[in-house]
Amino acid sequence: MKKAIVIGATSGIGKELAKMFSQNDYVVGIVGRRSELFPELQKEIPTEVFFKRIDVTKTSEAMNLLGELIKEMGGVDVIVISSGVGFINPDLNWEQEKETIDVNISGFTAMANVAFKHFCIQGSGQIVGISSIAAIRGGGDSPAYNASKAFVSNYLEGLRQKASKLKIPIVVTDIQPGLVNTVMAKGEGLFWVAPPEKAAKQIFRVIENKKRHAYITKRWRIIAWLLKIMPDWMYNKL
Ligand SMILES: NC(=O)c1ccc[n+]([C@@H]2O[C@H](COP(=O)([O-])OP(=O)(O)OC[C@H]3O[C@@H](n4cnc5c(N)ncnc54)[C@H](OP(=O)(O)O)[C@@H]3O)[C@@H](O)[C@H]2O)c1
Repeated sequence: MKKAIVIGATSGIGKELAKMFSQNDYVVGIVGRRSELFPELQKEIPTEVFFKRIDVTKTSEAMNLLGELIKEMGGVDVIVISSGVGFINPDLNWEQEKETIDVNISGFTAMANVAFKHFCIQGSGQIVGISSIAAIRGGGDSPAYNASKAFVSNYLEGLRQKASKLKIPIVVTDIQPGLVNTVMAKGEGLFWVAPPEKAAKQIFRVIENKKRHAYITKRWRIIAWLLKIMPDWMYNKL
């Protein structure tokens, strides 16, 4: 039986993804801070499931705990890093900027570090990072969030190049969702908001097909293209 760990699986995209893995006969490892939600999750997951309470911002402890979880599961094939926070922060409140950096950058990197080194020793594996369409351009109302997701996508590309140079078959998958209906999707005038179940289904397919990158849902590739070609004078008016 294949095994997957989802970091940030107590709610939202990560939770639906953990369920998808389980429905497809994976043994699943679930990570998050809200351990009070574990019993409820247990009921929704039919295959064998392992839980680990980890706060990714406590990086040293988090890295040890992820290592422990991998051992408890007897190895792992796929590690998804879905943990993340996002704030609409037009006033540049420092606490929110800092929390975004701590979770989305430091926490992400710590988890990716453990995953990559584990797969190097194991000789194969797949790392999946949940980045965002926000990675493509800076965001005036959420500068730390957009920048953190640019970091995630760029870091994943670095790991992919590293694996290739080392000639170790580690698949590195960069997922860039548009809008998904979770507590994180905030603001007015939201469009093309996908149910988390639909997003998880598409992400699971991308993982199974060992792709390097995907927009979720698929039609967000149009927005991605527009963002990439839009001149600054136009982008600054959005
Ligand atoms: N929703 C969207 O529209 C959207 C769009 C693009 C990208 N994304 C990305 O998708 C990912 C999942 O977000 P979501 O929409 O599913 O939101 P969500 O429901 O709020 O899920 C966030 C997950 O991250 C975990 N998390 C947060 N801080 C953590 C910490 N310090 N340590 C460990 N886990 C932590 C949470 O678990 P605990 O609170 O239990 O720790 C939770 O399981 C994020 O990386 C987000 O940036 C979302």
